[in-house]
Amino acid sequence: MFLWNDSYSVGIEEIDNQHKELLSLIAKLFNGTRFKKNIDEISDITDELTNFAIVHFQLEYNYMTKYSYPDIKAHTDEHNEITRKLNEFKFGLKNYNVDDFASELMVLLKKWFVSHLTLTDKKLYEYLKTLKVDFSKL
Ligand SMILES: [Fe+2]
Ligand SMILES: [Fe+2]
Repeated sequence: MFLWNDSYSVGIEEIDNQHKELLSLIAKLFNGTRFKKNIDEISDITDELTNFAIVHFQLEYNYMTKYSYPDIKAHTDEHNEITRKLNEFKFGLKNYNVDDFASELMVLLKKWFVSHLTLTDKKLYEYLKTLKVDFSKL
């Protein structure tokens, strides 16, 4: 699940690269919990993942507004839900034991990569592709 596979691809290299980066941060975080690294290290990776996700979501939001994407509300709701969960991790890390954290992380990963990325994001990029958007200047 932590390895990139083609079913995750939205067919645009620049966007796939960002999604790959997100996936690799989640993998890094999961490995951190598996190897029970100290909390500071896990906290740093959580920050890195949260910050990168926020930048990525902002980029998609800009595309959706710029190109009048009809499903902006549903898409943004999912981003907000993921961000809320990431912030819960970020600010509440000390309240979790490492095993609970790891299992919640898996839930997030499934929601994000199996559902958001393969359904919600794909739909957005299919729409943008029909408008011939240039993704080379992200
Ligand atoms: Fe998205
Ligand atoms: Fe995305």
